[in-house]
Amino acid sequence: MAEEKKNILDDFKVVQGEDKKFGKVFKLAIIGTGGIAGAYANEINKMDDVHVVALSDLVDGKAEKFAQKYGWTNVKFYPSHKELIDAEKELDGVIVATYNRTHAECCIYALNAGLNVICEKPMSVTLEEAVKMRKAEKKSGKVLTIGFQPRMDPNMKKIKEICDSGVLGKIYYIQTGGGRRRGIPVNVDRTSFIQDSTAGIGTMGDIGCYSLDMVLKAIGYPKPLTVTGYVSDYFGKDPSYVTYQQNGHPEWADMFSVEDFAAGFIRLEGGIILDFRISWAMNLDTSGDTIIMGTKGSLRIPSTECWNGSVGGPMKIYSEVAGSQVCTEIPLLPPLKEGNFNAKIRAFLKATQEGGKAPVPTDEIIINQAIIDGIIKSSKLGKEVKIEIPEV
Ligand SMILES: NC(=O)c1ccc[n+]([C@@H]2O[C@H](COP(=O)([O-])OP(=O)(O)OC[C@H]3O[C@@H](n4cnc5c(N)ncnc54)[C@H](O)[C@@H]3O)[C@@H](O)[C@H]2O)c1
Repeated sequence: MAEEKKNILDDFKVVQGEDKKFGKVFKLAIIGTGGIAGAYANEINKMDDVHVVALSDLVDGKAEKFAQKYGWTNVKFYPSHKELIDAEKELDGVIVATYNRTHAECCIYALNAGLNVICEKPMSVTLEEAVKMRKAEKKSGKVLTIGFQPRMDPNMKKIKEICDSGVLGKIYYIQTGGGRRRGIPVNVDRTSFIQDSTAGIGTMGDIGCYSLDMVLKAIGYPKPLTVTGYVSDYFGKDPSYVTYQQNGHPEWADMFSVEDFAAGFIRLEGGIILDFRISWAMNLDTSGDTIIMGTKGSLRIPSTECWNGSVGGPMKIYSEVAGSQVCTEIPLLPPLKEGNFNAKIRAFLKATQEGGKAPVPTDEIIINQAIIDGIIKSSKLGKEVKIEIPEV
C-alpha cells in the first residue's frame, strides 16, 4: 500500500513543493475577472515565482477592483482580451477565465498570438468551437490546457489505475452524473451561468462535464458514436424557485435560457454504454452513484460532487474470488497538500516550460464537448444523433 501511494504522489511532484522553480518569474495575464479568476488569484498569491502583469474584463472598472482586492499594484488593464493580447508581448501564458460563450474566441486569439493558454472548463459551448480551438492550438504549437482541477486529485487518478489494471475485465456499462437538489448557480453578482448569451450551456457545462471527465479519462476517452439526449429547464424557468425568491429576483426565471437538467445515453467505441444525468435542481437527494461495470468486476464510486475535487467516500470493487462474491474497499488517498487548483496552475506552468502534452489535453476534452453538444442536438431533434468529431 505504501509503495502504491508513493507512485501516485510521484506524479504530483509538481505540486508537492518539489517542482523546479525554473529559475524565472512567470508573467501571466487573466482574461475575465469574475468568480473563478478569484480562485486563480488566491493560488497565485501563494506563488513567489508568478506575477500577473495584465488583466482584462468587458465590464468597466471590474479588473481594477479585482487587482485592488488581491493586492496587485503593478498591473495593466484592458477592456477586452483583444487589446490585452495585442499589447502584451512578454507573457508566459494567459488564463481564460471568461464565461463559456467567449472561451473559444479568447483562446483562439491568444493562440494565434503565440501564447500558452489555460482555459476554464467547459472547453467551449459547441463542438464546432472546440474544433476551431484545436486547430488554432495545433497551428500555434503552444500549450492549450483545460481547467479540470479534479484531474489532479489522487483518488481520481486511482479510478483510472483501477480501470487500467484489468481487474474489472472488459468494461461495458458506465453510469455517472449526479447533481444538486436546489443549486442553480445564480446570485446578485452573477447571472452569467443561467443565460444562453453568456453560458450557452447550463448544468452540463458547469458540473456535468466533470462527471464525464471522471469516467472517460479512466477508460481512455474512447470515441463516442451516438447519443440520445434530453434536457429540461423546469426549475430554472419557475419564478417561485427558492433562490430567486430569497434574492427577490423572480425575473431571473425569464433570463434563464440554458438547461437545469440533462440526461444522455451514449454509445462509445468498444461496445461501452455511458448512461449520464446531471442536475442543478431536482426533487431527489442524489441521482445515484457512479458505477463502472466490467466482466470481472464493477467499481462503485459513491455519489460524488466530483466537481469539488474528489470522490464521495471509499470506492468499492465487486467481484468473484474462487466462487465467492466479494467486495473490496479501496482506501481513500490523502488529498494534495497544496490543493487541486494550485496543482492545475503549476502543471500548466510546467508544460509551458517543458512542452509536450498539455496536462488536460484538448484531444480528450473535445470528446467531452462532443457528448454535451450531441445531447443538446439530440434533445432538440427528439431522436438519437451520430457524433462525428472532425479530425484536426
Ligand atoms: N474550475 C472551476 O472550479 C470553476 C468554477 C467556477 C467557474 N468555472 C468556469 O469559469 C468560467 C467563468 O466563470 P465565473 O464564475 O468566473 O463567471 P463570471 O461571470 O463571474 O466572470 C466571467 C467574466 O469574464 C468577463 N469576460 C467575458 N468575455 C470577456 C472577454 N472577451 N474579455 C474580457 N473579459 C471577458 C465577463 O465580463 C465576466 O466578468 C466559466 O466558464 C465557468 O464554467 C470554473
